[in-house]
Parts: sequence; C-alpha cells; structure tokens
Amino acid sequence: MSIDWPLLRAAATAAADRAYAPYSGLRVGAAGLTSDGRIIAGCNVENSSYGLTLCAECGLVSALHGAGAATPYQPLNPIQPPPPPNPAPALLAVSIVAGDGAPLLPCGRCRQLLLEAGGGTLLVDTAQGPVELAALLPAAFSGADLATRRDTP
Ligand code: THU
Repeated sequence: MSIDWPLLRAAATAAADRAYAPYSGLRVGAAGLTSDGRIIAGCNVENSSYGLTLCAECGLVSALHGAGAATPYQPLNPIQPPPPPNPAPALLAVSIVAGDGAPLLPCGRCRQLLLEAGGGTLLVDTAQGPVELAALLPAAFSGADLATRRDTP
C-alpha cells in the first residue's frame, strides 16, 4: 500500500488542533494509516494533576482498538448471534506532529506503545523522512520476552 505522507501529516496536524494542552502549551497530534487503509488519529489530553496526561499516541492507539477492523455494514438481527469481536488492524505508518505541523519524535513510552500496534517495521514520519520504529526503539522488550521468560508457561 502506498503511503500518502502529506495526507497523514495533515490528519495529525488537524488532530493537534484539537489537543487539550493548557499546562505544557505543546499541542500534539498523531495519525496512523491502518493495514485496511484507514487513517486514525489522536491528540494529547493534559490534566491538572499532570501525571495523568495522555500523549497523542495513546489516543491514537486507543482509537485504533476502539474502531476495530473495517467491516461491511451488517444490520442488527435479533435472531442471528452477534458478530465476533473485531480486532484492530495493524498500523503501517504514523505521523506525529506538534501544533506547528512539523514532525515530533514520539516519547519513549509511546515508542513502546506503537511497537505493539505496528511492530518494528512501522514507518514513523520524521523531518528527515520515514524511519522504521525498530531504529527508534532498538532491542525492544516485547510480548515475546513475556512468553519465553515468565515463571509459568
Ligand atoms: N506528548 C505527546 O503527546 N506525545 C509525545 O510523544 C511526546 C509528548 C505530549 C504530552 C504532553 O501533553 C506534552 O506533549 C508535553 O510533554
């Protein structure tokens, strides 16, 4: 799938316009292209308790899971069982920008969060062009470590 980076960055900039960042004054927007061809976005939401701040990437990943995979419209039918859960598609590319519309590299926590939503091959928009998330988060901890290193199998 070809990636329309200007469109993705524009979606991130539009999300940054909706950020709630009265404490830091740094508005952030994040937009991701899903493997089923949709663009999903999030913005940072701050809180007077500071530590409860949600990064834009958190909003993006939550929206990704909240939306689930794209499926054709199915009218509700009380006779049929409900459709199975609709797992979220993977992220292929993300653009994260500040309020000025220029790329902002994700914080460490959000790199870890994005890893689980898109894997190491997830492309991240930077001022120098797209880079793979694996380059921004080398030697990452992942679910594979949990599976192989936990006490009980
Ligand atoms: N912020 C994000 O939304 N994403 C990042 O990757 C870096 C930081 C937000 C959190 C906070 O609202 C503001 O930027 C200042 O840290």
